[in-house]
Amino acid sequence: MKHALISCFLLLLAACDGPSNPKVAATEQLSELPKDDHSYSNLNQIRTKHLHLDLEVDFQSKKIYGIASHTMINNGADTAIFDIKGLQIQKVTLGKKGHEKETSFAIGPMDKDSIIGQALLVDVEPSTTKVNIYYQTTENSDALDWLDSSLTSSKNKPFLYTQGQAILTRTWIPCQDSPSNRITYSASVKVPADLMALMSARNPKKRALDGHYHFELTKPIPSYLIALAVGDIRYHAFSANSGVYAEKELIDACAREFVAIPKMIDAAEQLYGPYRWDQYDVLVLPYSFPFGGMENPMLTFANPTLITGDRSLVSVIAHELAHSWSGNLVTNHNWNDFWLNEGTTVYFENRIMEALYGKEIADILALVEFDELQDEIASMNQSAHPEDSKLHMELAGRDPDDAMTDVAYVKGAFFLKSLEAKVGRQKFDAFLKGYFAHFAFQTIDAIRFIDYLNADLLKKDKLSFNYNEWIYEKGLPKNCLQLESVRLNSMIQSAHLFAQGKLSFKPKYQYKTKRIHGRKRRVKTNIHTQYQDRIIQEWQLFIRNLPSDLSINKMRELDRDLHFSATGNSEVLTEWFILSAKTGYAVQIRPVLERFLVKVGRRKYVLPIYDALMQNPKTKHLASELFEKAKNNYHAVTRKSVAEIVK
Ligand code: BES
Ligand code: ZN
Repeated sequence: MKHALISCFLLLLAACDGPSNPKVAATEQLSELPKDDHSYSNLNQIRTKHLHLDLEVDFQSKKIYGIASHTMINNGADTAIFDIKGLQIQKVTLGKKGHEKETSFAIGPMDKDSIIGQALLVDVEPSTTKVNIYYQTTENSDALDWLDSSLTSSKNKPFLYTQGQAILTRTWIPCQDSPSNRITYSASVKVPADLMALMSARNPKKRALDGHYHFELTKPIPSYLIALAVGDIRYHAFSANSGVYAEKELIDACAREFVAIPKMIDAAEQLYGPYRWDQYDVLVLPYSFPFGGMENPMLTFANPTLITGDRSLVSVIAHELAHSWSGNLVTNHNWNDFWLNEGTTVYFENRIMEALYGKEIADILALVEFDELQDEIASMNQSAHPEDSKLHMELAGRDPDDAMTDVAYVKGAFFLKSLEAKVGRQKFDAFLKGYFAHFAFQTIDAIRFIDYLNADLLKKDKLSFNYNEWIYEKGLPKNCLQLESVRLNSMIQSAHLFAQGKLSFKPKYQYKTKRIHGRKRRVKTNIHTQYQDRIIQEWQLFIRNLPSDLSINKMRELDRDLHFSATGNSEVLTEWFILSAKTGYAVQIRPVLERFLVKVGRRKYVLPIYDALMQNPKTKHLASELFEKAKNNYHAVTRKSVAEIVK
C-alpha cells in the first residue's frame, strides 16, 4: 500500500514537470525530471549516494554472497525502494557497521513480462542514511556469466564477468537501478587466490596473493556501469595511464592490436576536453561476451573477436573510449533517450577514427553503418513497432534493450553529423565540448538536450534546425548528410559484376625461382593479394551486395578465390554466414559455422546469423541444431535473444 501511494506521488510529480533548465544539476533536482519506467526506486524521497559492496565470489556454487551497504540521502522517507531481480535477500539492517539494527522488508511482485524485476521495500526511519542489504545471487542473476575453464583461453581457470547495462545490475546487486541517479562506490571482494579481480574502478596490476581486493571509484556513476571480472588475468601497460588486461594466452596479441589507445586518448582530449577518469584500460574477456565492447568506467570490457591481428576493428575501442564523455560523463536520464548515449558516442568515435586514420577511412566506417541503418528502418516499418525508428522512444512496459538498434546508434550519429554540416565543424566542436563540460557527471534527456542546443548553438547564430523531426519523428529527415566513398562504390560495383558472372578479384599468379633446401624451384605466388588490398569494411559491403540467390557453385568459387570461410575476421565471417544462409551454402560449410556459433557469443554477429538461418527453409534446421550445441556457452542476454529467434 505504501508502495502504491509512493507511485501515485511520483506520477503527480512527473505530471507537474515545469520547463527544464539545463543549468540545474540534474542529480540534485531529480523531482524535476520524469520518473524512470524501468526502476521501482523512490529516488525523490531517498537515494543512494555511495554504495559499498562486500562480496565473496564462489566459483563452486556459482554464487556471489554479498552485502550492499547504501549510504543514502534521505528526504524524510519511511520506505526505501530498491530494484532486485533473481536475487535472494537474507536480511536488511540499518546503521553503520557494528551499530546495525535489523529492519523489516517486503518484496513486491515481478512485473508481467519479467523485465524490470521486483521492488525491494525496506522500512526506514526518516533519519536513516545507511541501509545494508545481505543477499546472494542465484542462477537467475542474468548479469553474471560464470565460465567453466573450458571456455577460457587458458582452459584451466574459470572466469566470471558481469554485464550491467541496461537493467541487469539489479540481478547481482540490490540497488536503485536507474541511470538518473549517480553514485560513487567501493568494494571489498574475495575471490579464489589463483584469480585476479577487476572492477570499473581503480584496479590492481598484479594478482593479490590472498585473493582479497579493494576497489574505489570516487567519481559518481549510474548503477549500470558497476562491473566486475574475475579470472586468470595479466596486464600490459601502453603508457602511465592506459593498458590492456587479458588472459596470458592473449595478452601479447592484445598489446599489438590496441597500441593506438594512447593516440586515441590524445585525439579525444583534443576534440572534446580532458579525460576525466584518470586511467583508461581495456579488459579482453572470453568469447561469450555479448557485446563488442562495454564502456565500464576506467575499464572497457572488450570482445576477443576484436583481436584480428590487423587492427581492423579498433573503432570499437574508439567507441568505448568516447563513452568516457558521452554516456559515462553525460548520461541518458532514462532509457527512452538511449540515443543520447550511443548516437553521440558513434559520432565521437568516428571523429577519433578520422583523427587517427583520415577522412576516407572514417567515411567508409560510417557508410557501412548507414547501410545497416537503412535496412533496419525498412524492416522496422514492416514490424509491430514502426515507431522504433524515432530517436526518442517510449519504452514503458518494454525491455530497454529494444532501444539497442541502429536508430539510436547511427541515426543518432547522423543527426549530429547533419547538424555539424549545417553549423560548421568549428562551432559544432565548441558546442559539443561545452556540452560535455556543462553536463559533466549529470544526466540528460531529449528535452534538456534541445534546450541546451537552442541556448548554446542555434539561437546564438540565429540558426534553425529540424531537431524535432530528427528526435520525435520516424525515419530519416531529408537533410540527412549524404556521404560518398569511391572505394565502397567500387566494391558494390564489383559485387554487381560478380552477379553477372565477372569476378574482378580473380587471383593472378606469377612464377619466381627460389632456392629451397639448396635447390632452385619455380614457386607460384599470388601477386594479386586482393584480400589485403582492401580493408575489412570494403569486403563487408562486397558480400552484402552480392545477390542472395547465388548458386552453391558461385559461393564455392568465391570461397576458393577469396577465402571468406577461412577468414579470422568476425565481421566478414558474419556477412559471409548470412549470405551462406540465404543461398543455402551454409549447409556446405556447417563445420565452420558451427565452430563460430559455438565459440562466439557477441549478439551483433550471432543474432543476424540465426535470423538468416531461420528465414531459409533449407537452413532452418541448422538454427535449432546449432543453438542446442552453443547455448550453454552464451551469456544470458544472448541466450534469451537467440531462443526468441529459433523458437
Ligand atoms: N554500451 C554499449 C553496449 C550495450 C548497450 C550493452 C545497451 C547493453 C545495452 C556499447 O558501448 C556498444 O555500443 N557496443 C557496441 C560497439 C559498437 C557500436 C562499436 C557493440 O557491442 O556492438
Ligand atoms: Zn556504445
